[in-house]
Amino acid sequence: MALDSRQLASREQFDRQSRNYGSSHILADTSDVLTALAADPNGGGRPALDVATGGGHTAALLAEKGWTVTASDLSPAMLERASELASGRDLRIVTALHEAEHLPYPDGSFDLVTCRVAAHHFSDPAAFVAETFRILRPGARLVLIDGSVPDGEQEAAEWLHNVEKLRDPSHGRFLAPAEWTSLCAKAGFTVESCALTPFKQPDLEWYFETAATSPENRTAVRELVASAPPAARRAFDLCEEEGKTVWWWPRLTLVARRP
Ligand SMILES: C[S@@+](CC[C@H](N)C(=O)[O-])C[C@H]1O[C@@H](n2cnc3c(N)ncnc32)[C@H](O)[C@@H]1O
Repeated sequence: MALDSRQLASREQFDRQSRNYGSSHILADTSDVLTALAADPNGGGRPALDVATGGGHTAALLAEKGWTVTASDLSPAMLERASELASGRDLRIVTALHEAEHLPYPDGSFDLVTCRVAAHHFSDPAAFVAETFRILRPGARLVLIDGSVPDGEQEAAEWLHNVEKLRDPSHGRFLAPAEWTSLCAKAGFTVESCALTPFKQPDLEWYFETAATSPENRTAVRELVASAPPAARRAFDLCEEEGKTVWWWPRLTLVARRP
């Protein structure tokens, strides 16, 4: 299918920046995925799809745990990085180039779908959830991890949206827990858990580097940080630590099951 403008922006952005998402990136720590997989982490050869796999950290963890992994993304360069990561660890994954909003697989073909720190780029999160429901077998799980905003914190959410959009114009929107829960319920899922945990943005300058933010946009973000409303300072614990601007994203972990 032809990519829409947001998908094209993501492809361009991540093709350009793929080398910044390697083993030194904060996403290399996959303990959040392991926690979300909880009582059933081992695949025993069952098929799993990792949507928007990026540098492949989640896909590699699943392969290590015995899942038969398809790692998908709309960025060819990211898929190359994911393959390199897996082969460097002697793991086998298959890569697939496609967008998250249209999953080219038959109904009921996977026992697990994961999607970590990517859905805020999607142009149509509802289509992604509906497609995921379709390709999961009855009884199988979706594990979704993404940046989020607390329910009912409109002003803080708006501030973070403006910051993220300037840092990386391919950013779409962080959805609040109530929005994800509602999308999943509408698609037919039973939401088993949905929680926010703080996740540290350790240094604004590092964060600019990972996205190659333009000098003008860096200045605009620094101005937004300096003038952040109290609601945003409180919601994200925005502060200076040893000369670095840091904040804490509310990271959403949602586990939903196809009945
Ligand atoms: C931060 S990376 C993902 C990190 C990765 N999931 C992990 O666990 O390390 C975000 C990825 O989302 C991908 N992406 C963005 N929009 C997408 C879309 N609509 N469909 C598929 N992939 C998309 C980008 O190409 C990028 O590789």
